[in-house]
Amino acid sequence: MTAQNGILQTGEGERPFPRHIAIILDGNGRWAKKRGLPRVAGHAVGVETLRKIVYYCRDIGMDYLTVYCFSTENWNRPQDEVSGIMKLLVKYLSEAIKTMEQRRIRLRVFGDLSGLSPEILELIERTNEISSRFEGFQTNICVNYGGRDEILRAVNRYAEDVRAGRAEGELTEERFASYLDSAGVSDPDLLIRAGGEQRLSNFLLWQCAYSEFYFTDVLWPDFTPEELDKAIAVYQRRDRRFGGIKA
Ligand code: IPE
Ligand code: IPE
Ligand code: MG
Repeated sequence: MTAQNGILQTGEGERPFPRHIAIILDGNGRWAKKRGLPRVAGHAVGVETLRKIVYYCRDIGMDYLTVYCFSTENWNRPQDEVSGIMKLLVKYLSEAIKTMEQRRIRLRVFGDLSGLSPEILELIERTNEISSRFEGFQTNICVNYGGRDEILRAVNRYAEDVRAGRAEGELTEERFASYLDSAGVSDPDLLIRAGGEQRLSNFLLWQCAYSEFYFTDVLWPDFTPEELDKAIAVYQRRDRRFGGIKA
């Protein structure tokens, strides 16, 4: 193994490197509870962890990182936790606007934007505009995101195009994917869930059809680049067959 950061890179070894990693950032609440802190304190530390992992993913040459930050079901939480998370999102996006171009980090937000506040929508508009100025690594932040909701929104938009005469012919997988929030983004090679649960919780239902799954008990605020290296190393030992057989 002659790899940078302990990771075998394509070209140096035979093992392919994940171009796109998706992460379910889970365990913030339990992390806080263990310390006798309010849940929002766990989310605040979780944002710091996210920042570090974003930089790391850019540094190791990935194309995409997609992170699940707030689901369509998370509105069921107490009002103070929801507003605390939204405030953290505002803070994250506001800081990103100042540094993302210099740091070469493009941002996109996946989810039902119609459920977000005007303040957040304006920040998203600005991050989109900045992201359009350069190429390279992109982080996709999933907020008010649900896999089923994303598929339904895509179906409804497609139906609108059919009614308006803008869509002709058979609907293919590729064409359908272009209606999803993830349009133009390759499917995740590796899906990681922190926090010990082993479920998708409505994340990227369409896109994860052939992703490799990796579950860790590490709570998200404790997650580190070394943990990501471990997940990538496990991924590199997997045999992805996509329904075929090994050559
Ligand atoms: C993940 O952490 C962040 C969100 C879902 C917003 P949790 O808040 O779900 O943390 P746990 O699972 O309760 O520990
Ligand atoms: C999944 O975590 C959603 C996010 C990480 C944003 P949850 O904590 O909401 O998932 P469940 O309720 O344990 O399935
Ligand atoms: Mg949770």
